[in-house]
Amino acid sequence: MIEKNHMATYAVIGDPIDHSLSPNIHSAAFRELNLEHSYIAYRIPKGELEEGIEALKKIKIAGFNVTIPHKVEMMKFLDKTDESCSIIGAVNTVTNDNGTLKGYNTDMDGFLDPIKKKEIQIKGRKILLLGAGGAARAIVAGFAKEHAASITIANRTLENAKKLAMFSEQVGLKSKYVKIDEVGGTAKDYDIIVNATSVGLKNEPSPISLEGISSNTIVYDIIYMPMNTDFLKKAKEKGAKIIFGYEMLLGQAVRAFEIWHGMEAPYNAMKRALLGGV
Ligand SMILES: NC(=O)c1ccc[n+]([C@@H]2O[C@H](COP(=O)([O-])OP(=O)(O)OC[C@H]3O[C@@H](n4cnc5c(N)ncnc54)[C@H](OP(=O)(O)O)[C@@H]3O)[C@@H](O)[C@H]2O)c1
Repeated sequence: MIEKNHMATYAVIGDPIDHSLSPNIHSAAFRELNLEHSYIAYRIPKGELEEGIEALKKIKIAGFNVTIPHKVEMMKFLDKTDESCSIIGAVNTVTNDNGTLKGYNTDMDGFLDPIKKKEIQIKGRKILLLGAGGAARAIVAGFAKEHAASITIANRTLENAKKLAMFSEQVGLKSKYVKIDEVGGTAKDYDIIVNATSVGLKNEPSPISLEGISSNTIVYDIIYMPMNTDFLKKAKEKGAKIIFGYEMLLGQAVRAFEIWHGMEAPYNAMKRALLGGV
């Protein structure tokens, strides 16, 4: 573990990386706690991960976050994995202990964090999950851990939905899968609806109809930029309880901070940095 006031360097790796909000969030935490660490964004193109990691080891990086496109490939370069990381099969947070790299996946706890903060019960609830990519996999693991009743995975490519539904069954969560354009008017049959597709990043209309949902429905979009997606706007119009993507982003950063520094993260300072930067 890194001592307070020890000057250590942290990073986020990925490509593209120049718009990453992680340097802002973690630097704000360092300022708040008077830690003399630094956090940098480091672009590693696809196919150059091995060399990139060697370079990070040479500068004695203390830890780093991993984002698109390296979350799955990074697994090959780890010496140790924590349980979240091995279940999900993808890594977003790494610690470096004198050259020994240990991987964690804080997306799952980061996703669950705002649900828990709002005291929303997951146990026994029916879930509709849109998307079947990397983030959706961490979300399925989270709902399984919290004992949701069942999950329906709706995705553009049915084969990917099927694979994720199989994973869901493996981790103990009853699942079904459908094509996303076949969701039709069924949104009202679910307690919690999550968008984990990339539809909305470019201000596209909501990927499904939210007709019939009510103030009892929880609607969660993991897209954080833009903050107010059409999906969330439509949910708000129906009076549903909504959760923003930035809340997950903050949750995963808080968890990564606590893994690296072994102390409570300054949540409010990190939130201010994030919302100021969105
Ligand atoms: N808030 C956070 O902390 C956080 C964390 C991670 C990710 N995210 C966000 O979550 C989103 C997904 O990330 P990811 O890592 O899971 O990406 P990914 O692995 O590339 O998966 C993308 C998903 O979106 C679907 N999709 C893409 N274009 C679509 C379209 N035009 N119509 C319908 N479905 C479409 C894909 O369906 P197919 O299977 O058919 O390709 C797939 O299910 C991104 O926008 C990312 O920014 C947020």
